[in-house]
Amino acid sequence: MAKQRTLAILKPDCVKKNLVGEVTRRIQEAGFEIKAMKMTRLTKETAGGFYAVHKERPFFGELVEFMTSGPCVPMVLEKENAVDDFRALIGATDPAEADAGTIRKEFADSKGENIVHGSDSAENGRIESAYFFTESEIVANEA
Ligand code: RTP
Ligand code: MG
Repeated sequence: MAKQRTLAILKPDCVKKNLVGEVTRRIQEAGFEIKAMKMTRLTKETAGGFYAVHKERPFFGELVEFMTSGPCVPMVLEKENAVDDFRALIGATDPAEADAGTIRKEFADSKGENIVHGSDSAENGRIESAYFFTESEIVANEA
């Protein structure tokens, strides 16, 4: 199976709780290769643009406020079946509904503040990776 890419974000609650190292360790242990990574603080425009699909939802204002509340760590991850495997690793949006052993189950406080983002399709993985990283910032695969 061909390798696939997904965009992860370690959200501001992950950074505030000093969990960047622990969550990154779990991501690598699960077989994901980190192709790009940075620490950045999103503006309202960047966060709102990233989650634009949710802009009519009642939680949109809260979501933008949370995502701009402190620095976060976007990363491009690569693995076979990366999109689905990463969503399985992080668990359901609401930690109360997430499977045991998933990152959100273990570390998230609520459905809104849930530690980590993962793309929901291969196409969105490409679009979201390009939202945060230029092509030259993503480590190229060996020819
Ligand atoms: P994400 O995009 O961050 O990976 O999360 P997801 O696919 O599991 O969930 P999605 O439906 O795309 O929601 C995006 C983010 O919005 C916040 N949210 N809050 N309070 C609420 O009811 C609620 N619902 C969603 C969460 O931060 C969620 O991850
Ligand atoms: Mg989503």
